[in-house]
Amino acid sequence: MSERKSVLSCIQPTGDIHYGNYFGAVKNWVQLQEKYDTLYGVVNYHAMTMPYNPKKLIENTWELVYNLLALGIEYDNLFIQSLIPEHAELCWVFNNFASFGRVENMTQFKDKSQSTSDGFISVGLYDYPVLQAADILIYKAHYVPVGEDQRQHLELTREIANRFNNQVGKEYFVLPETLHTATPKIRSTADPTRKMSKSAGEKHYISIFSDENRIRKQIRSAVTDTGETPEGQMSEGVANLFELLKAADAQDVYDHFMSTYKAGSLRYSELKDAVADTLVALSAQFSEKKAEIISDKREVKYRIKQSSSEIRKIAQKTLFEVKELCGLINVKY
Ligand code: TRP
Repeated sequence: MSERKSVLSCIQPTGDIHYGNYFGAVKNWVQLQEKYDTLYGVVNYHAMTMPYNPKKLIENTWELVYNLLALGIEYDNLFIQSLIPEHAELCWVFNNFASFGRVENMTQFKDKSQSTSDGFISVGLYDYPVLQAADILIYKAHYVPVGEDQRQHLELTREIANRFNNQVGKEYFVLPETLHTATPKIRSTADPTRKMSKSAGEKHYISIFSDENRIRKQIRSAVTDTGETPEGQMSEGVANLFELLKAADAQDVYDHFMSTYKAGSLRYSELKDAVADTLVALSAQFSEKKAEIISDKREVKYRIKQSSSEIRKIAQKTLFEVKELCGLINVKY
């Protein structure tokens, strides 16, 4: 057994990956690989909880795998949830240790169940956080790097672990903690009052793998003044451009423009050009890596199936022990 603490996080396959996702999460995931035993999952079972298209789902799942690899996640640390059916099995077990009232009160459930187009709310959507608890606890992860919006789900995960432990009379599950890393919160360049996100529409996110022209166009049209900034204060739009420079580790460029800003001689067009140059260079680097990866998709798929089946062994061991603790009949695989 390794002495290192373990980290786990997961992401839903929704196709495109943008700079908000990268700077806010994936970049940190890549760095955590050095210090921790890390596992990252593409959670396609979770992606079925809202109305979806099966062809799109499988396409998005592989696309996300290619993207994560291009951004620096290592093969051995990456799995696809549906290749490890024990997640769903543990979810069933956990359904019996999760409080109905608590799950019903999850804000993400409330938000999403109100946003369905035809009023259909699946049981899967309701059960979503219990499956998430299974994702985490099945590997006995110590830390889960997630954003503020997932705090409630982490809390529920600990409640489930705790109730399970109490019921079976053993401190079997580790109570996982949120791993707080100060990651930059990138805003939409088209509307800096909201965060960069796909759900708001095309102009509200800058795709990492988009072409140079599009990136330049999006940065050039970034809103710098919403007319609501108090005198002498930096507007959210300008602050967001600075945030992008810092997030991309362009510290020198950041310092230069910050001092021109303080001197009162900042020209927005020059700042925008510098931000565009920085992102274009970064995107070029990631796109090159991606091109290399997708030049042999069969090989990538093979390797991800391999790594998922290695990771599955951990899940199977946990499930064996869980079934034993719960009074369920069991055999070793
Ligand atoms: N609910 C998470 C999100 O929307 C995704 C997720 C599913 C997850 N299972 C997880 C995150 C386990 C961390 C750990 O971002």
